Amino acid sequence: MVHQIPIPQAKYELLNAVIPKHSRCSRLVCLTLPLLVIGFLFLIGGIWIDVQGTLARNHQVVFREKSGTFRDAKTFAWTRRARMYAESAKENQNVDRNSTLDAMPNISPHSPSDPLVVCYYTLPRFLNASGDLRPSDLDPRICTHIIVGFASVVNSRLSPGPFPSIYTEISALKKQFPKLKTMISAGGINEIDSGFPEMVKTHANRKIFINSILNITRMYNLDGLDVDWEFPAWLGGKERERIYFVQLLQELRRAFDKSGRELILSVAVAAPAAIIDESYNVPQIAEHVDFINLMSYDYHYYVWYLPITGLNAPLYANPLEMGYSATLNVNYSAFYWISKGMPREKIVMGIPTYGHSFQLDNEQNHGIMAPAKGFGSLGEMGFTNYREVCEFIRKGGSKVFDEDSRTPYAYGKHDWVSFDDQVSVMEKVEWIKLNGFRGAMILSLNTDDWNGTCHDNETFPLTRVVANNLLSSRELPLDN
Ligand SMILES: *[C@@H]1O[C@H](CO)[C@@H](O)[C@H](O)[C@H]1NC(C)=O
Ligand SMILES: *[C@@H]1O[C@H](CO)[C@@H](O)[C@H](O)[C@H]1NC(C)=O
Ligand SMILES: *[C@@H]1O[C@H](CO)[C@@H](O)[C@H](O)[C@H]1NC(C)=O
Ligand SMILES: *[C@@H]1O[C@H](CO)[C@@H](O)[C@H](O)[C@H]1NC(C)=O
Ligand SMILES: *[C@@H]1O[C@H](CO)[C@@H](O)[C@H](O)[C@H]1NC(C)=O
Ligand SMILES: *[C@@H]1O[C@H](CO)[C@@H](O)[C@H](O)[C@H]1NC(C)=O
Repeated sequence: MVHQIPIPQAKYELLNAVIPKHSRCSRLVCLTLPLLVIGFLFLIGGIWIDVQGTLARNHQVVFREKSGTFRDAKTFAWTRRARMYAESAKENQNVDRNSTLDAMPNISPHSPSDPLVVCYYTLPRFLNASGDLRPSDLDPRICTHIIVGFASVVNSRLSPGPFPSIYTEISALKKQFPKLKTMISAGGINEIDSGFPEMVKTHANRKIFINSILNITRMYNLDGLDVDWEFPAWLGGKERERIYFVQLLQELRRAFDKSGRELILSVAVAAPAAIIDESYNVPQIAEHVDFINLMSYDYHYYVWYLPITGLNAPLYANPLEMGYSATLNVNYSAFYWISKGMPREKIVMGIPTYGHSFQLDNEQNHGIMAPAKGFGSLGEMGFTNYREVCEFIRKGGSKVFDEDSRTPYAYGKHDWVSFDDQVSVMEKVEWIKLNGFRGAMILSLNTDDWNGTCHDNETFPLTRVVANNLLSSRELPLDN
């Protein structure tokens, strides 16, 4: 029993000393002092948040300046979203976020009735460069939709970029497979400064944009538009952008319906809860779009202020993760979108065919959350494709399947890389079917092993796993 344990004399005296002091403290002082302290803490907290906000905005400015002068602007642009996700994690890592969502309305497990496999095809850097995936190398049977990315918004118009013939070539695939849908993506890695913010601001500008979309989709025989603005009202963006974004979608929808063509409208949306809260009015977006492409990847990426290894696209949280970090996974993001009002049959889950590489501080310490000191030697700026990962493992890299996240990683010497393989992709497809989501989005066909180096000449091995398990032969866009 507690009272039988001998209490050391000194502590006992201290306890005695405290009690009389308490009785001397007047009731008023006792009540106001803690309040003052709390008020002071709030004040400091407010200043701290302000400073953080300013830093974030400054960071964004530096970031924008850099992207203009970078050695390879395209590669740098690829890192933009990963860096924004990392920024959102930095700002929210101490936020006391409840990582358990309200109980979801129970649904009986069922596969989506009209499943989608939405594949991004990114424009080759130089049209005839060897090593680039060409439209003629695509296998249109493994996707229901091919979205060509990325066109820019320039002076409120969609600018298809220097190689418009690519769009014609992609749409020509529909001659072989009439059920295939082809779309164009605005923004993404070709998001030019202020393209979206300037365009959405006025009704007149939005009208110019919408007319350019109607024109371009007709010219290149495309079936729709994917809006890839990363992200409205985020990091220095105006709060009103959240409203403008919905207005844009509403006006696009109206124009598409009036066009007499069955044009599709999708948006590529953020996965981190902090960005979702800032950028999107979810129920209104849901009203206007056919589906959302959830960018459920880039959850962890090497940044100097978080120099540890982490998984690109974990399906589930690790039990050791707490608070905000427990929200950085595919499962949480998907259910967060539902909790905010997106119907699950409009949610298309992103699956990356690329990985993220890190350079280990100490090659003996090669787990998840191991200290890292930069990007790994694989790929460029921490982005690597599936073929490079296969070769890394073939040359002696050790592969580990992480049971908690249901995704693999590999390491060797100072290199560490997180990626998705056929097993993790399969698990994600099963999870999509079990939870009644609409389908899978692939980023991208280009980073999949399209020339069949990894698995006995099998081309697009990751995308093919998705197609084979999500689409029945009836739904495959085969038409013969
Ligand atoms: C997935 O997320 C839902 C909603 O937050 C949660 O109820 C469920 O336990 C999660 N699944 C796993 C395996 O963590
Ligand atoms: C988190 O949310 C769940 C579901 O709404 C609730 O049951 C739980 O008590 C909450 N936990 C905390 C720490 O707020
Ligand atoms: C690329 O190659 C094709 C034929 O292989 C040719 O028709 C086309 O003009 C070339 N384009 C450029 C930009 O060199
Ligand atoms: C296919 O991959 C191999 C392996 O590195 C590469 O050498 C080759 O150039 C690739 N083929 C094409 C057509 O790009
Ligand atoms: C339609 O788009 C093409 C290609 O971008 C452009 O050359 C043409 O001027 C546009 N037409 C109209 C009416 O905007
Ligand atoms: C892969 O393709 C190459 C060239 O066509 C062929 O030599 C090789 O036998 C094939 N390998 C397998 C496992 O099919």
